Amino acid sequence: MIIAIDGPSGAGKSTLGKMLAKRFDLLYLDTGAMYRAVALAVTRAGVPFWDVDRIAEIAETARIDLIGEPDAMKVFLDDDDVSAEIRTLDAAQAASVVSTISEVRRIMVEHQRAIGMAAPNGCVLEGRDIGSVVFPKADIKFFLTAEPEARAHRRFAEDQAKGRISTYEQTLAEINERDERDVSREDSPLTIADDAMVLDTSELSLNEVFEQMAAKVRARQSAAA
Ligand code: DC
Repeated sequence: MIIAIDGPSGAGKSTLGKMLAKRFDLLYLDTGAMYRAVALAVTRAGVPFWDVDRIAEIAETARIDLIGEPDAMKVFLDDDDVSAEIRTLDAAQAASVVSTISEVRRIMVEHQRAIGMAAPNGCVLEGRDIGSVVFPKADIKFFLTAEPEARAHRRFAEDQAKGRISTYEQTLAEINERDERDVSREDSPLTIADDAMVLDTSELSLNEVFEQMAAKVRARQSAAA
């Protein structure tokens, strides 16, 4: 069973993806974490963002591992635990930039397909291009979205809880900037796959959205049985 969850930043993909993976005993793959790890490797190597060839080389050679249960997943870059470092605002912006490079995407998509196919019970993958490019034949596709203001409020509250210094206005501006880059890039922009179930999380509680997603998975399981 391959479940694709796509959508803009802050729509609840990670939280809901982890919940689904746990409920149905599936592997959980946060593909954004992979782009963030590549971006960090690029920054650490001091390579400028215009140097596409060197960035592709880094994407090819960097070893990125996502290890552990969905709730406690750790991200390793060449054996270094970078789980916290990839969650900064700078890392998010850098990931959004390196993810516009086609060669980087080709390498990441290849890894993501291999991981998804190898998962014994199946996999929940979340990102921007899962239903459109990585697994166009996914068993189920969800597209989670919400108004930018609702997403910014959520992100801001998370940042506050983690003790990060920012303002709501900065968070909203950052979300708008990243959305713009993610939907307008040439290669695999964020789009809603034709056969995706679209859920707007602005007005619904997390549990309401989760129950709709879980019902869809159960229906698919019964149809396949
Ligand atoms: O989901 P996230 O915020 O951790 O993703 C970070 C960036 O990586 C995001 O701005 C766009 C990019 N990304 C992508 O292009 N394709 C994916 N499948 C996942 C993330």
